[in-house]
Amino acid sequence: MLTAIVFFDVVLTIHILAVVLAFGVVFAYPLLDTQLKRAHPDDLPALHRLHLTLARGLITPAMTVVLLAGLYLALDRYSLGDPWISATFAILIVLFALVGAVLTPLDKRLLEIALRDQRAGTGPSDDYRAAEGRAALFGSIALLLVIVSIFLMTAKPGA
Ligand code: HEM
Repeated sequence: MLTAIVFFDVVLTIHILAVVLAFGVVFAYPLLDTQLKRAHPDDLPALHRLHLTLARGLITPAMTVVLLAGLYLALDRYSLGDPWISATFAILIVLFALVGAVLTPLDKRLLEIALRDQRAGTGPSDDYRAAEGRAALFGSIALLLVIVSIFLMTAKPGA
């Protein structure tokens, strides 16, 4: 019994740590991006390479840990049918889709455009501004979904 309780707590700690690692940096993006764009307006490719490295090397792996640890916690003490769990599960799948199918391709596109603008010696082009606006929109949606998830996990409505 004691072992089961301790193991649940260890997995819960891993789950929450993975949430911090996956999403903490994303909440810093608005500040980080603004600062880097201001300090190095001629090196925007570096910013998008950084985003892509973080998405591949940190955010996606940490989201996978959130999912696996969350599944263990849910199956151990709750049920996947509990509304707060199924809703967050669905949100996490949407977040995977947003990162993999929208935000990463947008960052790749921004990298291409930024390299082209850099070669042309111009400032950010209209293409860059348009893709930047789409990335900001979908990035904000992702952040909002993370906030909703944290609320669902802590308030556990319907439990
Ligand atoms: C974006 C996705 C997620 C975020 C931000 C998140 C966040 C959190 C947080 C902050 C806690 C601690 C809550 C507390 O102790 O009061 C927690 C606990 C938990 N999470 Fe998640 N989680 C996510 C996804 C999931 C998924 C997909 C599952 C299940 C499939 C899951 C299952 C659980 C369970 C069962 C607990 C333990 C609740 C308790 O016993 O207090 N989580 N989560």
